[in-house]
Amino acid sequence: MRSNGIARVLCVAMAGLALVLASHAQQTNSQPLATATLTIDASKTLGKVSPTLYGLMTEEINYSYEGGIYGELVQNGTFQWAWDEATWIVTPRGTARGSIRLDKTTGPSAALPTSLQVTVTQADAANPLGLRNEGWWGIPVRPNETFHGSLYAKADSIGMEMKVSLIANDTGKVIATAALPPLGPDWKQYTFTLHAGGVAASSRNQLIVEFNRPGAVWLQLASFFGPTYHDRVNGNRIDIMDMLAAMHPAFLRMPGGNYLEGDHINERFDWKKTIGPLVDRPGHRSPWNYWSTDGFGLLEYLEWCEDLHMQPVLAVYAGYSLRQEFVAPGSALEPYVQDAVDEIEYVTGDVNTKWGAQRAKDGHPASFPLTYVEIGNEDFFDHSNSYDGRFAQFYDAIKKKYPALQVIATAPVKSRTPDVLDEHYYRRAEEFFADVHHYDATDRNGPKIFVGEWATREGTPTTSFGAALGDAAWMTGLERNSDIIVMSSYAPLFVNVNPGGMQWRSDLIGYDAFSSYGSPSYYAQAMFANHIGTEVVASGLTGAGDRFFYSVTRDAAKRVLYLKLVNASSSTQQLKISLDGVKDVKSTAKLVTLSAATTAETNSINDPRRVAPVESTVKVAGKEFERTVPGYSIQVLEISAQ
Ligand code: AHR
Repeated sequence: MRSNGIARVLCVAMAGLALVLASHAQQTNSQPLATATLTIDASKTLGKVSPTLYGLMTEEINYSYEGGIYGELVQNGTFQWAWDEATWIVTPRGTARGSIRLDKTTGPSAALPTSLQVTVTQADAANPLGLRNEGWWGIPVRPNETFHGSLYAKADSIGMEMKVSLIANDTGKVIATAALPPLGPDWKQYTFTLHAGGVAASSRNQLIVEFNRPGAVWLQLASFFGPTYHDRVNGNRIDIMDMLAAMHPAFLRMPGGNYLEGDHINERFDWKKTIGPLVDRPGHRSPWNYWSTDGFGLLEYLEWCEDLHMQPVLAVYAGYSLRQEFVAPGSALEPYVQDAVDEIEYVTGDVNTKWGAQRAKDGHPASFPLTYVEIGNEDFFDHSNSYDGRFAQFYDAIKKKYPALQVIATAPVKSRTPDVLDEHYYRRAEEFFADVHHYDATDRNGPKIFVGEWATREGTPTTSFGAALGDAAWMTGLERNSDIIVMSSYAPLFVNVNPGGMQWRSDLIGYDAFSSYGSPSYYAQAMFANHIGTEVVASGLTGAGDRFFYSVTRDAAKRVLYLKLVNASSSTQQLKISLDGVKDVKSTAKLVTLSAATTAETNSINDPRRVAPVESTVKVAGKEFERTVPGYSIQVLEISAQ
């Protein structure tokens, strides 16, 4: 008994020790590494830094638009029952009775030919029959906000009235209500405005539509918006837009990703069906297995670009969908090529062109800037080997009408020389550490490179600090080679962190209905993008640990040097910095540090800034000085030097 007891104690002690050792392996270590020397010759530049190096990649995944950045607060407003039958819930008050069903015979438009039929068998003003919608895991309401809503409706009896209210889940209290005019026998859009008074800020709210008498009612396209960024109608959520604005992204690669392609050809991003009045947009199934109403359509992407001063990188559907469906090059592909050429005209054409005029009709007379058009997405997955031929057909048609456009290929091709090649990397931090010199020897005479999707996939739903270290190490390589790497974009950008909201683990920005937060990777991206520089400066490093990564750029006009220092080791790295090629160095430098005690540390919806950049000033003693780079840290040192 006794020896068994001792053995058990020993076992527990050893397990404890193992745990301590295991966690210690990920924690910062007070033992510093040997001093390394970083020599910088600011008089020598190795190449230009691409001004478009850092941008965004987006698609409808992880509830990125609906349930994400798109300000629409109603879930399943077009009653796609096959997707989620629980979004509209019959809610009788008192003695009211009734039922709902999908009616496939009537709808307000050719694009929306179905509707929700509500049969009210019993109701009166004091006992209405309601239908409630809980939004995207809640409806956010803040004090004194104004909401604008609308829905299409018709009724079979004269005098049927409809009331729309915002209700607090916890108390059942009505926050705001609007009575709409009596419904008629024909489809009509009803609009309403609700003002929240002095309520407590919360997303635990629902929208309820109520009917006051027996009869049948048909509903379609229910919509409800709170405040939006720049007050755009059909616009975007403010907090998420603010987070993106803080990254200063140069471009937006849109609309995918797999979302561009769809699982099947008829589920592609068919841009012509995503423009114009919402009632004329049929919506479609996304390959991430949920419905897209396409309320967030092509013009909404472009306005998103406009609001954040990004240029669109327009990916056009290229005749391949994910379930190995493809359109053979030749006459069968021609309509798809024409769609792409039309799409470019919609983006760039003036109002005298057919599609420029359509854009003006849709509310945006001014054209949008466009430099890059991407043909498809990840076409190396197409086992038919049709991409070479498909690419050539798109390339020729686009170059014929728009010779100045840069055409991006998503897989190597032989038929034409693409201007740019899009490459994707989803890896672990260790893989990025080992591959930071990936582009150092790339042929400078071939196509330029767009690293259009990449990420260190560690941590979920958003990435951990260890992932940010992998990202930052990789970015030093992108920056050093940005004479050839014209653009790069992390993916995926967004995730709704509610249960069921995520299809792809390890994402950059997380949110629920109420608030949003950045992962450590988000902060690493923002730090690099906000201190980008215009030229790569000649430099050399000796004596550093093998988990130390860096890049040096300068902004010629601002006369500043940017040192990105990434210490992915748990030990501090002592660094002797020697600055040549400058006459005068300002004694105070700006330092931005992102660090954590362990690689597992992360941010979350409830702890959004656990790992966040800290800005300080440090003394720089002339052209030779020392820095201590803490273990597990990413630093940007901004030095003013002439
Ligand atoms: O970013 C997630 C997916 O990864 C994209 O949709 C696709 O292009 C890639 O395979």
